[in-house]
Parts: sequence; structure tokens; C-alpha cells
Amino acid sequence: MTAGSGSATRPVVGYANRMSRVRPSAIRELLRHGTDPEIISFGGGYPDPALFPVEELHRVYADLLTPAHAAALQYTASNGLPQLRAQVAERLTRDGMPATADDVLIIQGGQQGLDLAAKLVIDAGDVIITEDPTFLGALIAFAPTEPRYAPVRSDADGLDTDDLAEVLATHPDAKMIYVVPDFANPTGVTMSLPRRRRLIELANAYGVLVLEDTPYRQLRYDGESLPTLKSLDTEGRVLHLGSFSKILAPGLRLGWASASPEILERIALLKLAADTQNSTLNMAATSAYLQRYDIDAHIADVLPVYRHKRDLMLATMADVFPASVDFTRPDGGLFVWLTFPEGFDAGTFMAENLLPEAKVAYVPGATFFPVDHQPHHARVSFSGVPDERLVHGITALGRLLRRELG
Ligand SMILES: Cc1ncc(COP(=O)(O)O)c(C=O)c1O
Repeated sequence: MTAGSGSATRPVVGYANRMSRVRPSAIRELLRHGTDPEIISFGGGYPDPALFPVEELHRVYADLLTPAHAAALQYTASNGLPQLRAQVAERLTRDGMPATADDVLIIQGGQQGLDLAAKLVIDAGDVIITEDPTFLGALIAFAPTEPRYAPVRSDADGLDTDDLAEVLATHPDAKMIYVVPDFANPTGVTMSLPRRRRLIELANAYGVLVLEDTPYRQLRYDGESLPTLKSLDTEGRVLHLGSFSKILAPGLRLGWASASPEILERIALLKLAADTQNSTLNMAATSAYLQRYDIDAHIADVLPVYRHKRDLMLATMADVFPASVDFTRPDGGLFVWLTFPEGFDAGTFMAENLLPEAKVAYVPGATFFPVDHQPHHARVSFSGVPDERLVHGITALGRLLRRELG
């Protein structure tokens, strides 16, 4: 057969079955609105670039890009630069998860940990338990392993462990429980301590991997930090993921995985297969940054900025939203989750009213549900929108909602 003579419906190459699960996400489409300067987008949820420690990073990169530090441009250990692993271990230890460098694997942001965790335990058709709704990026990362999903209700106290007990009883062979215990994406809610303990009990009873994803953990604006699931783990079944994305800069693509030696060794082999190693330069620069500067002081500087944005957004919503619209009040992170009355379609409303009439965007919530794509929710982020535009955008949203819902 000559090139170009194939049938129009037949793909040029034969794709793997898994590719039927790999699709462009609705969010990618929406993020494009972020580039239209007229549109006030609450959709992105990126950290605010004005808060990146650019000057400090400039200094450490400048020092590394000298002949004396040529090793920063060389290959290095697949598990990550030993010094950076030790620095992360020290931070984990202070956060109630005693660790040495050997207990830490450096990865390409938390996102890579999601991909590797699914590769570790999921064969096609295996069950992953998630919050309902859950992080879209996790659904995207898990998709190539062709899982089935068993979603668990969540409320203001996070994942509902009574529902989890029922879901596990129905799916006793579930392979993984994926959870964002601190300031979840998309809901902003935090899992209570009794529920954290109960989750570990249930995971032990059913012999299931717990994938704990904590990119927002250090962005707490109110209240006391709660113990991580990893720190409550009694049997070495929690794979803990963290990230420098929200506390330093996401462009570094630096995160970490920590788990029992048995699990971490296998995850490290999968990491080696996937990409050999993280960028030596970015690891060396981050390690030097941690050595020369005080990242906790940097985080302490960032917190009031986000706290102010959150307070402004919540206060404006309380003023302008109709009583039939519910919203979460997160103690940290970047997201607020809106719940509209049943029957309301947040996607249609945005396409037909919110965007054309008010030039305001959010993320319609349906995309965050693994199975039952409930249409009456939306995710908004208060990060990176200047105060005046934030108030203007939420006020416009409130006005259109009052008109629509009465
Ligand atoms: C819940 C959650 N997990 C993981 C990630 C991945 O972040 P990164 O790969 O930049 O660490 C994000 C990013 O938004 C997230 O919201």
C-alpha cells in the first residue's frame, strides 16, 4: 500500500488500547482563556509568579553555571542529588515523618509520582479509590494504566471514611486509595484527624496502597497543621508525595516521593525507566537555594498574600452570591469549590452567559468527577488575580447567578 492510500478512518499507526483512555482535558481548553487579557480567569490555579524568589534563584544558577560547577550539568544519580534528598528528608523529619536521604526519591513534580504510583500497582481494570471529586491531573496520570474508579464522598472534613468503608467492602481488591488530605484540589477541604486515622485502619484491613498527595500542605492560612497519613502509617503502605511547585516554583519540576524501602525501590526503578533522572541543574540550584536561603521564611512571606486573596474572595462571594450557591471555606491551598442547585449546568452557564456577558471563567466541576460527572459545581482559584479584578469578576459572577437562580 502506498503512503496516503489508506482509508480515511484508519489511523496511520496502530495505537495501544490504553490510548483510548488518553484524551485532551477540558482544562487545557480553559487555560487558554488565561492568555486573553480581557478575561478574568479563576480557572488556572497556578501559584502567583510575583511570589517566586527570582533574584535568589538567579544568584544560585549564576554560581552553578561556572566551570568550577560543571558537575551541575552532568548526569547524576537517578534517585536525585544526595544533598537535595538529605535536605528534603530533614524537612520531612520536621513534619513528623522521620526520614534519611535514602527514604527520599526526587521526582518531576508531584505529577510524576502519580504516574509512577499507578504503574506500580495498577493493571488494566484494577480499582483506584479516589475522593469524589478528585484532582484532574491524577485522573490524567492514572488513565494509561486503564483503571476502574470507585469514588468516595467527601465533605467539609475531607474524604468520608464511613463511605470509604462501604466502598472497600464492595471493592475488597482495590489496589490504591488516592487522597489529597490538605487543602484538596478542587475542593479546598482538609481531612480531619479522626478520618486520617480511620483511613489508615481501613487501608491496613484491606492491604491497599495509600497514595498521599500534599502539594499544598505548606500553604496553610489558618489553624494547626495535621499529621500526614505517612506519619500515621503503621505498616509501610503510604506513598507520600510532596512538591516544590507551590513553595518555590513549578517550572523547576521538582517534587519528592517517600515510602517504605520496599515501595520506594520499585518506584525508583520506574523513575529510572521513565526519564533516567531529574535535571541535575535544577536539583543543584534548589539544593543551593535551600542551603543559602531560608525557604520557610519565604513561605511565611507568601502566606499573607494568599490568605488575603482567599479572604477577599470568600467575603465577596458571601456578599454577592445567591443563598442557593454553596462554597467551601478552605484553610489553605488555592481553591474554592462552588456547589450550585441540582439541575444547574456550570459548563453551559459559563459558555452561554459567564464568558460572553462578563468575560469571567472558572473550571466547570464535572471534569473532576471520576465516574458521575456532576454538572452543578465549579472550581475557582484566588491565586494570581489582582484584587480589583478578583472583586469585579466575583461580583459579575454573583450578578449573573442571581439573575439565573433568583
Ligand atoms: C493535588 C495536586 N497534586 C499534584 C499536583 C502536581 O503538581 P507538581 O507536579 O507541579 O508538583 C498538583 C498541581 O496542581 C495538584 O493540584
